[in-house]
Amino acid sequence: MAGFRTRQVHAGVTPDPTTGAILTPIHQATTFAQESVEEYMARGYSYSRAANPTVSAFEEKMANLEGGVGAAAYASGMAATAAVMMAFLGAGQHALVSDVVYGGTHRFATRVLSRFGVDFDFVDTADNDLIAAAVKPNTALIFTETPANPTLKLTDLAAVSDIAREHGAIHAVDNTFLTPYYQLPLELGADVVVHSTTKYLDGHNATLGGAVVAARIEHVDELKFIQKSAGSITSPFVAWLTMQGVKTLSERMDRQSSNAMEVARFLEAHPKVTAVGYPGLESFPQHDLAKRQATGFGAMVWFEVEGGIEAGKTVMRSVELWTLAENLGAVESLITHPVTMTHGEMSVEERSKAGITDGLVRLSVGLEDSEDLIHDLDFALAQV
Ligand SMILES: Cc1ncc(COP(=O)(O)O)c(C=O)c1O
Repeated sequence: MAGFRTRQVHAGVTPDPTTGAILTPIHQATTFAQESVEEYMARGYSYSRAANPTVSAFEEKMANLEGGVGAAAYASGMAATAAVMMAFLGAGQHALVSDVVYGGTHRFATRVLSRFGVDFDFVDTADNDLIAAAVKPNTALIFTETPANPTLKLTDLAAVSDIAREHGAIHAVDNTFLTPYYQLPLELGADVVVHSTTKYLDGHNATLGGAVVAARIEHVDELKFIQKSAGSITSPFVAWLTMQGVKTLSERMDRQSSNAMEVARFLEAHPKVTAVGYPGLESFPQHDLAKRQATGFGAMVWFEVEGGIEAGKTVMRSVELWTLAENLGAVESLITHPVTMTHGEMSVEERSKAGITDGLVRLSVGLEDSEDLIHDLDFALAQV
């Protein structure tokens, strides 16, 4: 098999047979002409809610990069997560979810699916014994996110996949923070991989999208069925633009991650910073696991400032190069306050159990010069 860099450029894309266009065209069409009633779907397409050639090219690229047999692309990362939960859970069943997850995942589980008779427990998926103890006879899905948003807590993917398999449950992994360039959950035994392609895969703060890749064809079929039935497929334009972003994924990830390491080391040495979280630091409690199950540490960092929430707000107000905004993973460096922004709907108890403190400041490190990023943080910290 060709290397990752080759595949990120070429997988799913062949010059258009009719024109030779080197990029997969944006097939901006709702419906597709059929030759005859007998030959319905002979060319594979009927209506763009079910499938679209541009979306299919993107799905093929995603399946290739994650090492799955197929993929389904959705209108957002949340639509992808929702599809996984709707595909693999039903009334009377139970799911285990990482206690630290993206706030929207928590919200969909507790405020939407729980109304349809699905039971959820949020567990510390960094602790394999806790997971094994929390599995019930009706557990159908274990949904993990690693590194998790925003504390970067890690889940041992091989160990949790073993637990899931032993109990006949599906292990779904949100791989948004590391992408297939750094982490391959299916290789470690997971069944499906979920992405908010809005983040590193697009990489330019330009689109909202999601994708799910599965290791088994029957799971791909279930995911495509939800895509069509819920009407949550992504658009041809978003699929096309995301494909262009994916072609430079490895280069962006490597540079953003090395910037993140420099930023994390600067913060760790700063007298006003009381705590820093970055899986690449030796001080990170799961640093060994980070090295074992992934080939890179990613570009998300968090820190706390002496003086708590008020001091954190001063930093967020004083930065100039870093933008106060919710997204992550793109070339622009962003600074976020999870408690008011991304995780605002979790209860105070749930947040404190998950270690999402009021003073936690999250950084998505971008592609700028690291000296400029550090200089700007240094200035902001001096205002505290
Ligand atoms: C880890 C993770 N998963 C899923 C999502 C949801 O993705 P989207 O915003 O594309 O719906 C996010 C968004 O922030 C995220 O950080």
